[in-house]
Formats: sequence, structure tokens, C-alpha cells
Amino acid sequence: MDQLLKQIEAYKKEIGSFSATDDKQVEEFRIKYLGTKGLVKMIMGEMKHVAVAQKKEAGQLLNEFKLFVENKFESLQKSPGNQQPGSSNTIDLTLPGDPLPLGSRHPVTLMRNRIVSIFQRLGFAIAEGPEIEDDWHNFGALNLPEHHPARDMQDTFYVQQNPDWVLRTHTSNVQIREMEKGKLPIRMIMPGRVYRNETVSARSHCFFHQVEGLYIDENVSFADLKQTLYFFVKEMYGKEVKVRFRPSYFPFTEPSAEMDVSCFICGGSGCNICKKTGWVEILGCGMVHPNVLSNCNIDPNKYTGFAFGMGIERPAMLKYGINDIRLFSENDVRFLKQFTSVL
Ligand code: DAH
Repeated sequence: MDQLLKQIEAYKKEIGSFSATDDKQVEEFRIKYLGTKGLVKMIMGEMKHVAVAQKKEAGQLLNEFKLFVENKFESLQKSPGNQQPGSSNTIDLTLPGDPLPLGSRHPVTLMRNRIVSIFQRLGFAIAEGPEIEDDWHNFGALNLPEHHPARDMQDTFYVQQNPDWVLRTHTSNVQIREMEKGKLPIRMIMPGRVYRNETVSARSHCFFHQVEGLYIDENVSFADLKQTLYFFVKEMYGKEVKVRFRPSYFPFTEPSAEMDVSCFICGGSGCNICKKTGWVEILGCGMVHPNVLSNCNIDPNKYTGFAFGMGIERPAMLKYGINDIRLFSENDVRFLKQFTSVL
């Protein structure tokens, strides 16, 4: 009996310090100690050598021992490799964690936010309008009556179900929708997606994005337009950049202009981006045509205003060095994840 006690104590020590780093070792433990030819079975067999008077005591001892081994097995099963915190074969808590993949904003969104936030600082509020638009808001009210030759400036997608509907060709429709509301003055910046029936290539796409601006109040002048756009250019492209206005034609503005900035890639000396001219075209603009004001029930004798419209893709391509406009809409994660750290 004394010998049995000693034996059990020795086994308990051995078993207590057993540790496993994987399931295979846990299984080895089970076979060695709890299997049909295992240690527990073997010791139980010793019972027959114990004197009758001591059988009760020995039985208790062996049952305790069996329970001890079973408990140890259970705890090994629950967390293999984690029996002794801090020892070499446990999880190393000092290792750096797995990095979580970060999402990123789309480059068009990044550029849109940059543009919009500059005008927000000047007090412009954001407005949005529908992408499926009726003829009046996309063309008619903007001084482009039916059969007006300037309608051909923009190749239009028509909606089959309703001959009066188009996919808007520009964000200028939102100008009309805002003016129609009759709340003056208006100082709004209007970003959105537009559609044109053009062949898709590296340079042009059948849908892209624009930002429209509109300011209507009493006594708004072309000088206000210029100051506003000068501020925008300085914030967007830097203080050194030069600006020039070229007279142009848009049916919805009079006078109309296009604005160029000195090429921010070559500094104006001439490169591929500015086609050796030293200038890059940024936007169209002008004073809102009196007909457009009248179409929206705004008195052109009392109110004047300016408007402008610019694309988002081209400045984004220049800023981020993107050479194919199709990349924007292909959803290739290898492309998109390059903007993870861009704000
Ligand atoms: N809607 C014009 C276009 O898509 C851009 C534009 C030009 C908008 C002059 C304006 C503007 O508001 O005044 O090409």
C-alpha cells in the first residue's frame, strides 16, 4: 500500500508537469495514461495485490488518481499549448498582431471632397439632383431649346421608356432644380455623375463626374466669379499657379469663359500633359444667362449670378498620376488599395 502511494505521487508529478503544444501530443497523453493499455488501467490492476483490509482506502486513492488524470486530459484538450503561460511552447503574447486590412476612398471621391470642401469654406452649400432627368432640366431651361445646335455638343443617352427622359449630360440640371425652389440667394456646389454617349477609351468614358457651382444674388458680377475661382485655384493647385480666362460659348451663360491654369506638372514650360502649351483647361464658367433666370421665375433685372462646371476625373488623373480613365470604374482592388493612405 505504501509503495502504491509513492508510485501514485510520482506519476502525479509527471502528469502534472505534462504540457502539449498540439492536438497530437494531447492524443499521445490520452493513449499513454487513459488508453486501454494505459497507466490508469494498469494501476487499477494493482488492486488485486492489495490486502483486503486496505482495499477501501486503496480504491479511494486510485479513484482520485483517475480523476486527476482525467481532469488533466480535459484541460489539455481545451487549450493545447497553453498549459503554462509564459513558457516557450505557449502563445507568444509579445508578437505584433495581424494587421487589419484598411479600406480606402475612391480617387474620384477624394478629388470630389477636395474640390467641394474648398467651396464649402467660402459658404457654398452642397446640393444634388437626379441622374435620370427630363429634357427641360437638362436642356430646355438651360437655354437649349429643341433643335438648338449646341445640343450636339454633348452626345446624349435617351431613356427608351420615356422620350422625355435623358441620362443627364452635365450637373447643370441641378442649377435649374435649385433655382426653381425660389429661395434666394443661392450659393451652392453640386457634385455628381454624368453620362455621355462616347466611345470608351483611356481618355474618355461614357460616364464621369462633374462639380457644378452656382451663385445667385443681387449685384453678383464677373469680378466675383473671378475672385471665387482664383481662391479655388490657389487652394487646389498652390499659390505659384497662374490663371487665364479664355472667351468661350455656353448657351446658359453670357458672357462665357473657360479657365486654364499654368501646367502644374511642368510649371508652364511645356510637357505632354499640357500638350506643350504650358496651360491646362480646368473648367467652363460665365454669368448666368437672363433667359435661364427667367425660366426659373427669377427676375433677371433684380438678380444676377455666376456658374461654373468642372470635371473630376481629369484633375484626379493629374494629381494621382493615373493614365487611363477606365481604371476608375473597373473596381480592381490592386488599383483602389493604392489610395489607402491618401486623405
Ligand atoms: N455644363 C458644362 C459642360 O458640361 C460645364 C459648364 C460650363 C457649366 C459653364 C457651367 C458653366 O455652369 O457656367 O461642359
